[in-house]
Amino acid sequence: MLILGIETSCDETSIGLLEVTKIKADFFIKPISNLLVSQVKIHEKYGGVVPILASREHYKNLPFLFKKLIREEKLSVEKDIDLVAVTNGPGLIPALLIGVNFSRTLSWYFDKPIIGVSHLSGHLFSFLLPPTKKKKKISLSYLNSLFPLIALIVSGGHTLLVYCKKINNYTIIGETLDDAAGECFDKTARILNLGYPGGPIISQLSQKQRRKKAKSKISPETGKIEFPRPMLSQNNYDFSFSGLKTAVLYFWQKLEKEEKEKLIPAIAYEIEEAITDVLVKKTFKTVKDFKVKTLIIGGGVSANLRLREKIKETIKNEKIKINFFSPSLEYCTDNAIMIALAGFFESLNKKEDWREIDAISNRKF
Ligand code: KG4
Ligand code: ZN
Repeated sequence: MLILGIETSCDETSIGLLEVTKIKADFFIKPISNLLVSQVKIHEKYGGVVPILASREHYKNLPFLFKKLIREEKLSVEKDIDLVAVTNGPGLIPALLIGVNFSRTLSWYFDKPIIGVSHLSGHLFSFLLPPTKKKKKISLSYLNSLFPLIALIVSGGHTLLVYCKKINNYTIIGETLDDAAGECFDKTARILNLGYPGGPIISQLSQKQRRKKAKSKISPETGKIEFPRPMLSQNNYDFSFSGLKTAVLYFWQKLEKEEKEKLIPAIAYEIEEAITDVLVKKTFKTVKDFKVKTLIIGGGVSANLRLREKIKETIKNEKIKINFFSPSLEYCTDNAIMIALAGFFESLNKKEDWREIDAISNRKF
């Protein structure tokens, strides 16, 4: 079957086409096309996503992306598309409504099945996706053998620890009480005037600093910066990142102009260390307490190489018996292919009518 995925929950307009072939207990997935228009340039000057501007961009771009997909893949919507899978939450309502309304119209006009997909399920399943145009076999027995699992979903809008007993059975066991981890990267980058989105920029600066540190090419005072690791000592699975952001702000405000220039890489390094320390420690607390077989990560911040490295180090150093999977980099940030795949899994359980699909800003799973 061919699944059309549509994603407009935040600041990426994306349309994707995923082929899913089921042969007995196995299925084969092949991302055929993953088209995307990023709005980074539009929101950059505001240091974060402005919902009404995001909505307007989706409104402008979505029909063109759709037409491009139809033309490039020589598709006939009537004959070729078997399911429309659209993100209907969580996300920004003005942004979600554009994708939802577009998809409802397709479903109604072409009489196609439709499914409203949780953006979080999309990030959760993105570790399964092969690169575009590559086919991957996933046996159902193998997939079932990975459960129970813990998923760390970590992005600009979410920081969640999810316990999954089996497919379509999820319990959120921890989440952020204030800012998301990606938001903390973005807001601290804004304090340092580094641009948006902050995660990749801070990560790059931090990597440079780490390399210099390894070669002992930096002066000792740059190693003295220390930011808090919020909620680490608390016996729960929740996160909080706003205190870290405030600590960076106060530290930055006290610096002289020349010091600011000099210390940016060291500050970026310490921000990344603090955020990833908290994410990793809390994640492994759940892994141990819930005795799971698998750990997966997903969402924009799961692209962070230091986070991946620390997870692998912890598994090795503490000799933890666990499978660990992360998405390939192209599927960490928002995209429509992950929505098509999650839509496939959700459609195993339920059928929906286009009249029932609504945008739900606080939808979980
Ligand atoms: O999943 P995503 O595209 O959108 C949401 O659902 O929020 O995630 C975007 C977030 C941004 O906050 C961005 O700064 C962060 O992911 N991000 C990163 C990296 N790449 C993107 N954070 C840390 N390191 C990265 N390499
Ligand atoms: Zn996302």
